[in-house]
Amino acid sequence: MNNLEQTLSIIKPDAVERNLQEEIINEFKKNGFLIIKQKKIHVSKIEAEQFYKVHQTKPFYNDLCTYLSSGPIVVMILEKENAVLDNRNLMGATNPSEAKEGTLRKKYGISIDKNSVHGSDSVENAKIEIDFFFKD
Ligand code: CMP
Repeated sequence: MNNLEQTLSIIKPDAVERNLQEEIINEFKKNGFLIIKQKKIHVSKIEAEQFYKVHQTKPFYNDLCTYLSSGPIVVMILEKENAVLDNRNLMGATNPSEAKEGTLRKKYGISIDKNSVHGSDSVENAKIEIDFFFKD
């Protein structure tokens, strides 16, 4: 059954800083994702706060937003069948120390904050997150 989906992926400042974007993008391609749109940007703290609004009551919210706005990031629209779930499986657990072998966060993540990649957690949020960065 065809269940073509799009999801939003972010290569976070820790990975861009280490020049890992090409390697990570190749992992997406190798795993069957099409890169529909891609851009390298540097978001402000206010933009990061808007993007991560769902986490605004969490104790880590301020650090998270400071971190996302600390350097350039690469934002992408990824497309494939079951893109949302497949991307989450490819990324692995939020905390790299708990992520399975072969996942992006296991390979590249440094800590729960510097976990190298973000991916939408549902089809509904994917639409909101894609609009956030790519609505023109
Ligand atoms: P991400 O998938 O981008 O979504 C929110 C981010 O918050 C998450 O990845 C982590 O990098 C970060 N974060 C920091 N502390 C925590 C925590 N205790 N639980 C979940 N996410 C956390």
